[in-house]
Amino acid sequence: SIVEKLYRPNFHFTPKANWMNDPNGMFYLNGKYHLYFQYYPDGNVWGPMHWGHAISKDMVTWEEQPIALYPDEIGLIFSGSAVVDKNNTSGFGKDGITPIVAIYTYHNMQGEKDGRLDFQTQAIAYSLDEGMTWTKYDKNPVIPNPGIKDFRDPKVIWDDSSNKWIMSLAAGNKIMFYSSLNLKDWKFESEFGEQLGAHGGVWECPDLFPMKVEGSDETKWVLIVSINPAGPNGGSAAQYFVGDFDGKSFTPNEKFLNQLQHHKAIWLDYGRDNYAGVTWSNIPESDGRRLFIGWMSNWDYARDVPTFKWRSSMTVARELKLIESNQSYYVQSLPVNEVYNYVEKEIEKDSVNPTELSALFNTAKINMAKLNLQFDLKNLKDANYSFILSNKEGDTLALGLDNENNEFYLDRTKSGKVNFSEKFAPHVSKVKVSEKLQNLKVQILLDKTSIEVFYNNGETVMTELFFPNQPLDTFSIHSDDKTFKIENLKIQEFKFK
Ligand code: FRU
Repeated sequence: SIVEKLYRPNFHFTPKANWMNDPNGMFYLNGKYHLYFQYYPDGNVWGPMHWGHAISKDMVTWEEQPIALYPDEIGLIFSGSAVVDKNNTSGFGKDGITPIVAIYTYHNMQGEKDGRLDFQTQAIAYSLDEGMTWTKYDKNPVIPNPGIKDFRDPKVIWDDSSNKWIMSLAAGNKIMFYSSLNLKDWKFESEFGEQLGAHGGVWECPDLFPMKVEGSDETKWVLIVSINPAGPNGGSAAQYFVGDFDGKSFTPNEKFLNQLQHHKAIWLDYGRDNYAGVTWSNIPESDGRRLFIGWMSNWDYARDVPTFKWRSSMTVARELKLIESNQSYYVQSLPVNEVYNYVEKEIEKDSVNPTELSALFNTAKINMAKLNLQFDLKNLKDANYSFILSNKEGDTLALGLDNENNEFYLDRTKSGKVNFSEKFAPHVSKVKVSEKLQNLKVQILLDKTSIEVFYNNGETVMTELFFPNQPLDTFSIHSDDKTFKIENLKIQEFKFK
């Protein structure tokens, strides 16, 4: 169909049909990356949740699998995680087979209708065939509800220092931590965040994990917390905290707290379409990466986007890095390297004049719907630098740096179909930059309906959807600084299948 041709992404995961939201239960095993997801197989708006499933060898090309978890008499299957239980701590393993254990939330619809508070509980299931089929534990739930209305999205990791499984759980406007030796019996340890970070929406989908600070031997802990609404540019978004974890409680770092005083919250992504993202478990130590994927949509309008057979896609898989800079710690994200295995056409040029640029795109016949674009700008002035994607229909997607007012922006207000929801493009998305920039590194990943912008090695990220009337096929750079040059331009067109 026309919608399929125009809007089905080239390299972002979408279910073949029907509704998808959060990524769930991601783990790696024997050369395969598993991705489960909130899935409603009977319609293309949110409905009774299942866990859909997809497998990839490289986090770029995905193959959808049969549904992994179905709702049952206890409830719907909400978001959660999965771990590879190598030492069979759960005892679910049999005949030497390592069990995979999924930890998820049950959502009891009747309980919700009856106005009770305790309708969300935590449960487990295990798989003895590498995540293809699952058996639910017969003593579920493993964590009953203590009387908290929003009590969900368990994310479990193995903590080497305390020798325990640690669960982060979203509980209203805070995160609760639990520990366990066997994934069945859970002990409440502590809670975090009621007074910190962004509030004004419910906290969801936490993820706590240790990370090496780049270029040092120091380890810090990162806690990602999604929030809906109250994101920096409206609706759903993911913030994070950096600190220490001692097997019981999370203590935010002093320097990080200082940053919070200036900014209120630090966001993993300042665009409007990266929500509920979490990281893969069981990545081998020899690899060592912290790998992330997010739901590329926003509860403000996810149900309304003009893709009719399916709804929603995931972000590109990203590698997270923790850096110390500007007197604090920051999480950088960049696309996983595997993406570049798909580069088919590459143009690299130094010192490109802005007027040469459009011609370059035209003569090389670049397909912008599967593109990685990178360039540097040097010796910036107090000026506006805008990067514009457009087509003959007059659809434009504009982004760039306003170096006078110290902000990055992403403007999809005239990017094509925007009227399907008042909340889709009511304003330009913006993010403050703390200082005047002298230099700027830009990386833009483009698919048919998404743009993922990584400024300065992924220190500032903006991910947004757009629905043009025709593919965008022109790219240009403009500035009121007439002397600027584009350094090290790199255009990479991908080929898939
Ligand atoms: C986040 C979320 C989760 C919940 C799931 C339900 O987008 O609201 O908190 O588990 O979606 O589908």
